[in-house]
Amino acid sequence: MEQNVINKDGYNKIAAKYNEERHIYNNEKELEQFINLLPKNAKVLDAGCGGGPVAKFLVSKGFTVTGIDISSKMLEIARKEVPEAEFIECDMTKIAFPEDSFDGIVSLYAIFHVTKEKHKLLFRKFYEIMKHRGILFFCVGSEEWEGSDDYLGTRIFWSNFSPEKTKHLVEEENFEIIYDEILERGGEKQYWIFARKN
Ligand SMILES: C[S@@+](CC[C@H](N)C(=O)[O-])C[C@H]1O[C@@H](n2cnc3c(N)ncnc32)[C@H](O)[C@@H]1O
Repeated sequence: MEQNVINKDGYNKIAAKYNEERHIYNNEKELEQFINLLPKNAKVLDAGCGGGPVAKFLVSKGFTVTGIDISSKMLEIARKEVPEAEFIECDMTKIAFPEDSFDGIVSLYAIFHVTKEKHKLLFRKFYEIMKHRGILFFCVGSEEWEGSDDYLGTRIFWSNFSPEKTKHLVEEENFEIIYDEILERGGEKQYWIFARKN
């Protein structure tokens, strides 16, 4: 089965449970770093927004947020939790926003669900829809690995390059790395990147 079908179905099943447990990954420090890089009243895309924890934080700080996700159940939660934001059901590799749409793009714990062969294409699309000097902020897995396993009682597909390769791809798509590090949050290690559109 195609990975998007597995993940859409999987996240529809575990949406409530995932969001109940989401607080174990406390990303407030990284989110503060992100907003410090953004202009006032910035427009931000949250790719793979889930139930909207990042959108909620950004809206509370006065930003305008569009969230996209492939899971309708996740989006149902996000719309209830963050009525001020706009949410669209969409595969992030198929986004079709006009050029210069966003000052920032954030994607937490989501790009690792996109097959790694599409990561380069995804960074290119992010580049195209971002304003000049826009900020890209995301995390992916800390080790190269691809496959599916049991997550919160359902099957979920994951796909990661090594941090070095991910950094290289981001740079190849003409982003300048501001900061990157492997960080442990909620007992899990992820590779975190802040980059600026050149
Ligand atoms: C682990 S959750 C993270 C949600 C949210 N970013 C957070 O920090 O809580 C991963 C999310 O990515 C979404 N997702 C997976 N593949 C996607 C794709 N190709 N396009 C858009 N969303 C996707 C899933 O439906 C799920 O809501």
